[in-house]
Order: sequence, then C-alpha cells, then structure tokens
Amino acid sequence: MLYIGIDLGTSASKFLLVDEVGRVLNTVTKEYPLSFPRPGWSEQDPAHWWQACLAGVPELLACFDAKQVAGIGVGGQMHGLVALDAAGNVLRPAILWNDGRTAAQVNYLNETVGNDKLSAWTGNIAFAGFTAPKLLWMRQNEPDLFTRIAKILLPKDYLVYRLTGVHATDYSDASGTLLLDVAHKRWSSEMLDLCGVTEAQMPTLFDSWQPVGTLTAAAAAALGLPTDVVVCAGAGDNAAAAIGTGTVGEGRCNISLGTSGTVFISSEQFRVDPHNALHAFAHADGGFHLMGCMLSAASCNKWWMEDILHDGDYAAAQEAIVPEKLGRSHVFYLPYLMGERSPINDTNARAVFLGMTMDTTRADMTQAMLEGVAFALRDSVEIARSLGLDISRSTLCGGGSRSPLWRTILANVLGIPLDLPATEQGPGYGAALLALVACGRYRNVAEVSRAMLHIQATVQPDPELTALYDARYAEFKQIYPACRPLFASLAGTP
Ligand code: XUL
Repeated sequence: MLYIGIDLGTSASKFLLVDEVGRVLNTVTKEYPLSFPRPGWSEQDPAHWWQACLAGVPELLACFDAKQVAGIGVGGQMHGLVALDAAGNVLRPAILWNDGRTAAQVNYLNETVGNDKLSAWTGNIAFAGFTAPKLLWMRQNEPDLFTRIAKILLPKDYLVYRLTGVHATDYSDASGTLLLDVAHKRWSSEMLDLCGVTEAQMPTLFDSWQPVGTLTAAAAAALGLPTDVVVCAGAGDNAAAAIGTGTVGEGRCNISLGTSGTVFISSEQFRVDPHNALHAFAHADGGFHLMGCMLSAASCNKWWMEDILHDGDYAAAQEAIVPEKLGRSHVFYLPYLMGERSPINDTNARAVFLGMTMDTTRADMTQAMLEGVAFALRDSVEIARSLGLDISRSTLCGGGSRSPLWRTILANVLGIPLDLPATEQGPGYGAALLALVACGRYRNVAEVSRAMLHIQATVQPDPELTALYDARYAEFKQIYPACRPLFASLAGTP
C-alpha cells in the first residue's frame, strides 16, 4: 500500500509518497503566494492550499496506482487563524504564524489578564502569532466577520476539512492556539470565554495518528483517489518534523532551520517553562514538548540573497566566506525581520546589521547573517539548558540544514554534535509516518519514528571554534537589549 504525507508550508506545500516501510517514492512541491498587506502582517488565502493539493496529489501519483493509496497525513504551519462561516466558506484570508498585528491584544492578554492565569489555563502565554490574540483582533477590528464565524481551524485542519468534511484538529497544533489546556488536552473554557467563542466553534480534538475520516466523494474524485483513503488528524509542522527525525519520548532534541527556526525538545510528561519563553505544547507521539521558535531563520537567508542581493546562487555566496573568519568576525546581525517570538516575545524587534567598517565585504555580511540566526537559536537552547535540560546533541532538519557551512556554524555556536537524518523530508515525512500508524502498519508513533530514523552524517563541533563562538555569542547577547528602546520608539513611526 501507499501513503501520502503533506507539509502545508508557508511558501509551498510539499507532497510525499511513501511505501509501507517508509521509503520515499516521489515528491512534488507546489508554491503559492504569501501576502504582507501591511508591515508586520502576514496572510494567505486558504483556497491556494486546496488548489496546491488538487494539483499536487495527481502529479505525485502520475506514475503510481492511485488505488494503492491507503492513508493521508498532513503536517502544517501552526497558529494560523482560518475562520469559516456556517456554509464552510473562508471568511477572510488566514492570519499566519508570523503575523505581528496583535501587539495590543498580546499586551492585554499578558498584562491585563495576566501571564500567570494564561500559563495556568494553557501552559503558555500570548505571543503575537498565536491564534487567540488573532481572534481578539478580529473581534475588535472586523466585528461583522467575527460574528459570522461558525468554525475556527488551523491551516492543516482546513485541508483535512476539504479532504474529509470533518472539523478536526490534533493536540500538537491545537496547543499553539492558546485556547487549549495543554496539560489536560482539552479546550480551555476560560480562554474560549475570554475570546468570545464557544467550544462548538472549535474543531474536535484528536491524537495526531487517529483517523478522522475518509475522503468525501467530491475530494476523492477531484484527487483521483478511492473514497476509502483514511485521513488522520496530522500535526503541527514542528511536531510532524520531530516524528520524521526520531524526536520522540523523553529528552530528545530536534532543530529545524526552516522559514522559522525551532528548537524542539520532546518529553513524556507535561513540563512548563516557568518564564514561558519556550512553548509548552503537546507532541504528536502522545507526549509533550518544549519549543523555542524564532520567526525568521532560513527566511533571513532568502531575504538577504534574493530580495537584497538579487542573487540566487546561495552556494557560491557561502563559498566566498573564508573559514579563518568563522568565529572571528565583528560584524553582527539580529535576525528579527518579522519581530521575534522566542525567547524575547517582541513584535517591535527588527533586523539589524552592526559593526561594519570600510573593509567589510559582502561575504562578511552573509556570514554575519548565517551566524545571527545560529546565535538566536542558541538563545532558545540556553533557556532550555537553564531549566536543567540536557541539550548535548540534536538532529537538524529544514531547508537551511542543506548548507554545509550553516551546519558547521550552528554546531559550533551551540557546541553540540548535529545529526543529519538520511530522509530529510521535514514535516511531510512525519505526516506520512502518522498515516502509517493510522492505517495500522505500526502500533504507535514512537515505533514508526524510531524504525525510520537513519542518521547519514554528524556535524561535530570543534572545541577551538566553539570557544571563539562563545565569545561572539556573549557580544551578540548585548545587541538586542541595547536596541530594544529604539525598536519600541521606531514602532510608533509611520
Ligand atoms: C511554531 C511556528 C512555526 C510555524 C512555521 O510555533 O510558529 O514554526 O509552524 O510553519
């Protein structure tokens, strides 16, 4: 039998076809636009996700027997608000995970309602990209649309809805709404009340591997699939990627260098960061995880190379960086192109290049950008270490992990070995593994995740370079606090 994993990403959806033993037989990627209607806003039309699916799945199966497909799993960008009316129509473009419009609502939730209450109800505090502050924003700014909301879904749940007709979500993705009581895995009545919504407007909660239904006749016909294909609840993209990298059970770490950058630490028991700098979320294996998320990671590289330098040759740009300069440059970069989530939680934060002189080269600035992302990831790793968690090795995934130089910089900035999984297919692969469990091929998620993990290479840190980067990191850490007052006053500037 065959299984389809879908990664509903921010710039594209990726479709993967795997067999019963998890071999990837084919992949297809379908891109779609992302819109920034105002500075700091980030939206997408859910119709594009469905169109990508309608084009992607038949192309994926072009040389295969579609009747062999038994299951579909979807992993997706988290936190996005998809609001549907009673007829199932999308009420407005989805407000995405990296949208920063909700500073006032976040402030209200964290300051007026209070961090302590939010943390007690949900295990988390408010961050701009989370779903609850977006509901408050919609209630205040689009009251007519708000009253018409019949269902609230997350991006991958919208796809599952188009596939099955069922309003479902899973615990990992639901964790990022700030509407879930994560410790008890149920909707928080306090948070629902606060946001002016009812449980009837929320999707039904499932474990990631649980089947939520089979394809509707219309979806099956449109995709060229049989109607008995099982669709499981799926997972938020980081939880799905973690499944694909063997990050299950107690105390494992996975770092994703994707559009966002995340540090994901799995745990069997629910655990909360007392300062709430790391998110305390449910995992797709039935357990939990702590996660730090930076909003602009590989997207800094894309912005710098494509929007600023108009140069698509990433490899050549990195070859120009001389190894002797690693850990020795005094040019720094703060990667806050979309504000920042973990650990600083500041929608006003902005990107900065600092320390250039007349002899600074383009390669120095490219290096600073790659290092700045690595330093910002270390910020989350340091928070995890301060909680007593042992982060002494990690897997690495995401588009940025394909750069040998970036991997080396990251391993040395963090001072830990980074394992590179052989099947580096990100959330789509984890989602396909969930479908294997949903269809009974494996008994549970931990079993399939461990069975599929093969490490193809490990990037070892070099103690000398790590020491140099420790010194640079100490300097990097001073930049944001120095800039913060200026970021706040600039935010008031038209
Ligand atoms: C996680 C987060 C991002 C998105 C990216 O909290 O916001 O990693 O899921 O797709």
